[in-house]
Amino acid sequence: MDIELARKRIAELSEQLNQHNYQYYILAQPLISDYEYDMMMEELIKLENQFPELILTDSPSQRVGGDITKSFQSYPHRFPMLSLGNSYSREEITDFINRVKKSIGNEIEFVCELKYDGVAVSLHYENGSLKQALTRGDGTKGDDITTNVKTIRSIPLRLQGDFPESFDIRGEIYYPRKSFEKLNAARAAEGLQLFANPRNAAAGTIKLQDSSEVARRNLDCWLYYLMTDEGSLKFNTHYESLQEARKWGFRISNNIALCSTENEIFEFIDDWENARHELPFDIDGIVIKVNSLVQQKQLGFTAKSPRWAIAYKYKAEEAKTSLLGVDFQVGRTGAVTPVANLEPVLLAGTTVKRASLHNADFIAQLDLHYHDIVTVEKGGEIIPKITAVDLKLRDKNSQSVVFTEFCPECKTKLIRKEGEAAWYCPNNEGCPPQIKGKIEHFISRKAMNIESLGEGKIALLFDQGLIKNAADLYKLTYEDLYGLEKTIETPDENNPGNTIIRKVSFKEKTAENILKSLEESKKVPFHRVLFALGIRFVGETVAKKLADAVLSIDQLRSSSYETLIAVDEIGEKIAASIQNYIEDPVHLDMIEQLKRAGLQFNQESKIQMDGPLNGKSFVVSGVFSVSRESLKEKIEQYGGKNISSLSTKTDYLLAGENMGPAKKEKAKKLGIPIISEEDFYQLIG
Ligand code: IVH
Repeated sequence: MDIELARKRIAELSEQLNQHNYQYYILAQPLISDYEYDMMMEELIKLENQFPELILTDSPSQRVGGDITKSFQSYPHRFPMLSLGNSYSREEITDFINRVKKSIGNEIEFVCELKYDGVAVSLHYENGSLKQALTRGDGTKGDDITTNVKTIRSIPLRLQGDFPESFDIRGEIYYPRKSFEKLNAARAAEGLQLFANPRNAAAGTIKLQDSSEVARRNLDCWLYYLMTDEGSLKFNTHYESLQEARKWGFRISNNIALCSTENEIFEFIDDWENARHELPFDIDGIVIKVNSLVQQKQLGFTAKSPRWAIAYKYKAEEAKTSLLGVDFQVGRTGAVTPVANLEPVLLAGTTVKRASLHNADFIAQLDLHYHDIVTVEKGGEIIPKITAVDLKLRDKNSQSVVFTEFCPECKTKLIRKEGEAAWYCPNNEGCPPQIKGKIEHFISRKAMNIESLGEGKIALLFDQGLIKNAADLYKLTYEDLYGLEKTIETPDENNPGNTIIRKVSFKEKTAENILKSLEESKKVPFHRVLFALGIRFVGETVAKKLADAVLSIDQLRSSSYETLIAVDEIGEKIAASIQNYIEDPVHLDMIEQLKRAGLQFNQESKIQMDGPLNGKSFVVSGVFSVSRESLKEKIEQYGGKNISSLSTKTDYLLAGENMGPAKKEKAKKLGIPIISEEDFYQLIG
């Protein structure tokens, strides 16, 4: 295809994809199937790869992510990003209404909206294109999260209709509750730390460095505040501005009410107090705003917040009940968590029987006694917590709760590491939940990917005495497996103290599949085997860097601490943890067995020692036709080195589109050659 035809087709596809996106994510009325949508996206990406010069920054292809943000740069807000006065009492709302009436007069209309519980974002549009997305930051400047925000499908990259030439719109990025539960379930299965609530998950996700991972997560966004320079104001009220913004393609809630009396405002507050539990996302209150923009201007701002708006926050729901007992649970890392058993009580629509007690300090702070009457609260967190003890109702003879000294599973004496709140069972190699946890990590998707085994099957094999560590998996025979059957109880990660009961049985096919996938796993590359070992602090990325640096397990064993910390991404803590692991004879023995089973414990160097870039150091900056990461990989592959900032030792600045002028200046000053992507390909031939 010639470039003019490609340009036309790209424009066509972009427009259609934008329209279908709007139909699906804003109107919830898709006109085509997901498959058709994916096919169009694929065609667009293919064309853009073929003609990188035709990629527009607001192309729908940006939705799939790909670019890596090393550090989020900070930029000033065009309009300061203020917050709202908070109140928990109705009196304060009445005071607010009276204050407003006193300075404006009695004829006032208010808008009541939901107060979304997520992460505030400010979007800047120019000529209908999303140009920049910033976090709140300190209110005057925020972090640039544009690349990640572009992956949120309900945020339009290009607008339709009659929009102002340049404006900002503010909103809240949030994690829908269902997606949040799925995310945590997947993290639990991989032995990763769980997010405490959807807000934390949203905050963590929007600051991920890998935008394609953000694209895989299901973030969403509500917009609630339009800001333009006065000259381009076309409307008189906040309500109107939101209705207009909806027409341009923004996701604006329908749960907005125009209220002219105090009663109407309280009705809105009361209605949502209960109904909020049925929403598919979290809200933590109601926002009340003066509707007229002229009146808003008259009222103005204090240093921190507008005088024309206030937030009413719902109290976390709480209930009183009796403490029946305390269980101690051991997690995969050996950390022991106390869990309260409660007299069942109804709270925010569910029956609560257990509550987390966090750690020993928490129990001591509450001075908790058995049979105390305690207050349980369900805030943003899914797991209810105990917030208070009613001392007046305490039985004089009741005994105080004492934190266990021994592991409830293997009876080993617990230890407490300096500076940490948790007590640990140090018997890492012999404590059942810790062993099972390690094996579960070993088989997980991003590690050895042994799909036909799961938590239940691991538990069964362990209980039958067939496996005591990952190496034992490779000794399993058909005879071992066939016919095994058991009812398994596993702790429910999302509901501490509760158990999930399921029946596990190994029929002919299951046994065969397990052996087959174990055999398959022997091809898994070295870096994933390293990750699978479960060395503390060695995640997927570190494992990869480590494998690329040492190339084999034997080399890793003989690497000094200094060699390890010289590896990208490996600091003192990780290096110490690696050495600790690799010096332990128990681990060495297991590695020997895994080696004998045929797992990959070395890899070939991808680096050409006498490659064309041998000894040359590069700084890569800007946007390219391929991801920056893949260019950096190429540099290393051909013998070069990546460095993060320009210095006299830099040999080349590989410059893409949108590179900051400061960098260019600096390179010129230092006399460093600036090369384009094309020049780079010529260099490596
Ligand atoms: S309007 C000048 N409307 O709550 C401030 N904020 O504590 C304009 N929020 O900073 C904000 N839902 O992050 C507004 N419907 C809504 C909101 C909302 C959630 C957040 C926002 C704000 C914070 C105030």
